[in-house]
Amino acid sequence: MKPSVILGIETSCDETAASVVIDGRTIASSVVSSQIDLHAKFGGVVPEIAGRAHVQLMIPVVNEALEQAGFDHAGRSAEGNSIHAVAATVGPGLIGSLLVGVSAAKSLAMVWNVPFLGVNHLEAHLLSPFLEHGDAVQLPLVTLLVSGGHTLIVLMTTPTEYQVLGSTIDDAAGEAYDKVARFLGLPYPGGPVIDQIASSGEGRTDAVVKFPRGMWKDGYDFSFSGVKTAVLKEVKKRPELSNADVAHAFQESVVDVLLEKTLRAAKDHGAAAVALGGGVAANSALRAGIEAAGVAAGLQVFLPPRIMCTDNAAMVAAAAWWRADVDAPLGLAAGANPSLRLRRSTV
Ligand code: KG4
Ligand code: ZN
Repeated sequence: MKPSVILGIETSCDETAASVVIDGRTIASSVVSSQIDLHAKFGGVVPEIAGRAHVQLMIPVVNEALEQAGFDHAGRSAEGNSIHAVAATVGPGLIGSLLVGVSAAKSLAMVWNVPFLGVNHLEAHLLSPFLEHGDAVQLPLVTLLVSGGHTLIVLMTTPTEYQVLGSTIDDAAGEAYDKVARFLGLPYPGGPVIDQIASSGEGRTDAVVKFPRGMWKDGYDFSFSGVKTAVLKEVKKRPELSNADVAHAFQESVVDVLLEKTLRAAKDHGAAAVALGGGVAANSALRAGIEAAGVAAGLQVFLPPRIMCTDNAAMVAAAAWWRADVDAPLGLAAGANPSLRLRRSTV
């Protein structure tokens, strides 16, 4: 039988998060503490700082998640409910960060005498639409998962059966945003800043500058290193270009490719729905583009709110619930795996 009440813990990168989710659907609490401010002055996530911050934040964040959901330190509620399992992201991510969450989850599982459930962070992102919308999600579903670390197109035939159709062969989409922003002298994380100046009206729509669309018609894999290099070269050659013009053209190139491949994958595989996930799913041009193209193609479109796109522990607890029948529970001896991947196919 699936454990009904699950405490989820997420520490794979720079968000310390804990959440209690009931039956993979109902979020009783979701606490996320972002470390962006700690890393911004270094222009990216510093692994040692992230690990140390997770250690400091772990207990307060777990306490708050338990308290908000009505549970005490023994994992019990006044109504007589209890936490049935503790889940944590075991990978992929930064090893020093993952270990903090995994150790905390295992300790609680041991003290409360409940199972420890290890979760693949990417599967957690993929299961977010089901956490929010449950049975309303029509299948097959094609999800574009775009973050600072990953760019994936995944076909899901059931919540637990999926096939990776494409991934990036070099930079992740968010990584390309962050690198281009850094080159333009914009603050970290670069995605929201580029998005803002590209869409602010300062970025011109007439082609002052145009960047290549990497691997445009080739399958479902992505490459973003070409557009990144093209930006660097063009800005050096034409210093008069404004950041807004460059941001606009760069965003157009990245979003065009993301949309083209996602919609093509949906069409080729007879999908009923498309969804976005990961931090880049907050991008305004990507959201507007997939909404318009998805609706025009007769697809159900899932655009999660930003809080569900970025790292959180509700998706970890929900993923543990969805996969409880499929995955064998990990014993307390199980460790973290920084380079854990999605299974290429579970279908
Ligand atoms: O999923 P996420 O919070 O963390 C991981 O990478 O796992 O994603 C962060 C990434 C960063 O690269 C950030 O620049 C990008 O998402 N991002 C955006 C936007 N908001 C965040 N990229 C483009 N447009 C945005 N509005
Ligand atoms: Zn993530």
